[in-house]
Amino acid sequence: MTKEKISILNTLDTQAWELLEKSIIYYKGYPIGTITVCDQTQSGLNFDHCFIRDFVPSALLFLMKGRHDIVRNFLEETLKLQPKKNQFDAYTPCKGLIPASFKVVSIDGEESLEADFGEKAIARVTPVDSCLWWIILLHAYVKATKDVKFAMQPQFQQGIILIMELCLATRFDMNPMLLVPDGACMIYRRMGIYGYPLEIQSLFYGALRASRKLLICAGNEEVVTAIDNRLPLLRDHIRHHYWIDMKSLNIIYRFKSEEYGHTAVNPFNIYPDSIPYADLSVWLPKHGGYLAGNVGPSQLDVRFFSLGNLMAIICSLTNERQSQAIMNLIEEQWDDLVGEMPMKICFPALEKEEYKIFTGCDPKNIAWSYHNGGSWPVLLWFLAAAAQKTGRTNISNRAIEIAQARLSEDEWPEYYDSTSGSLIGKDARRYQTWTVTGFLLAKELVRNPEYLDLISFGEFDTEKNDRFCDL
Ligand code: GLC
Repeated sequence: MTKEKISILNTLDTQAWELLEKSIIYYKGYPIGTITVCDQTQSGLNFDHCFIRDFVPSALLFLMKGRHDIVRNFLEETLKLQPKKNQFDAYTPCKGLIPASFKVVSIDGEESLEADFGEKAIARVTPVDSCLWWIILLHAYVKATKDVKFAMQPQFQQGIILIMELCLATRFDMNPMLLVPDGACMIYRRMGIYGYPLEIQSLFYGALRASRKLLICAGNEEVVTAIDNRLPLLRDHIRHHYWIDMKSLNIIYRFKSEEYGHTAVNPFNIYPDSIPYADLSVWLPKHGGYLAGNVGPSQLDVRFFSLGNLMAIICSLTNERQSQAIMNLIEEQWDDLVGEMPMKICFPALEKEEYKIFTGCDPKNIAWSYHNGGSWPVLLWFLAAAAQKTGRTNISNRAIEIAQARLSEDEWPEYYDSTSGSLIGKDARRYQTWTVTGFLLAKELVRNPEYLDLISFGEFDTEKNDRFCDL
């Protein structure tokens, strides 16, 4: 690398770190999170909020840099926002939920936190992912600080238990996955992902793994047993029923339908005609594969969703062979999945009638824009983490090169549009914090692969006492 290039890259990193610094929110004089957009000259809907999911890459960076206080304050304050009782009022958030976002409000000089559990959000969508991310982050905090006592405090053990009880409660359906409404995760608008979307299942698996380690105190045995029961069921279900490669496609292609009883080969009654075989059989590389976006009654959503697939690798929800196959697919279908900005939130986009029906004619989610096939730079860190985990460092390096050639000049947009990701998103915010932190985090993970430990899990072993007490 030339001296000139090194100096440009250093300036870029310095700018990004400065932006992150500017995004820190203070509450009663203490840093507690980061704002969605780090350029205070922009204003608009929830710009002054700290979103739980958006804070995750900031938090991981703070942990890596030894700035534990911010993450600690964040975990403590968000835990206080978690409802501890059910009000049995349909309009009040239920026990255990963690808000989508919060902001600092000041009345007569007295500061307090105002949370949004989706009751104020556009379309009133429920943030199911927040409570899962919260546990994953608490786990990362304990790993980084080795402060097991922090998680052992009664209010933290109770917080985890409430989330686990909410997620593991028996419901109407008999499936190991979490059944959720539309817009329950990063895709925070209607996109036809209600049911059992992959992103939620991957985060659920990560949160179960983290809870298993964090529930240390006596008296929690019942929940720990429930987690131990659920983990292998969820893992095996996803590995089997969500997996798509040439081999499984061949089986699905010849599925019989209307099967009844326990011996059914096609238990979800997927009608082969609903699968775009012609396109998929050309698109899928011989050694590639991925997890489907959603599997439900007569539904196999074959769209590729990046966050869910990458997080599945990071948390070992997929087995080693499947993880490698996902990375093979990304490498071989690079133009479709990465193109000019890592990386597409999902592929392909919904078009024409499908777009109208699934999104409700949402003008923000037209084909190849925003959540509907747009490219989100924040996904760079998930890609880098998955690449490091699978030993495919060429993929992370290549992706970082692409991102760093554009992000700063384009003023760190929230997302990009078009089939290749070449256009800055139509309604994209500039100086989006998780665009900045996604970039910085990807670089840190490549520079210091040991940081991957904060967020990743190995294969689940029922025999092993998977608890933090051994730290
Ligand atoms: C959008 C995204 C959501 C994100 C929020 C704040 O609503 O869909 O995932 O958390 O913006 O950046």
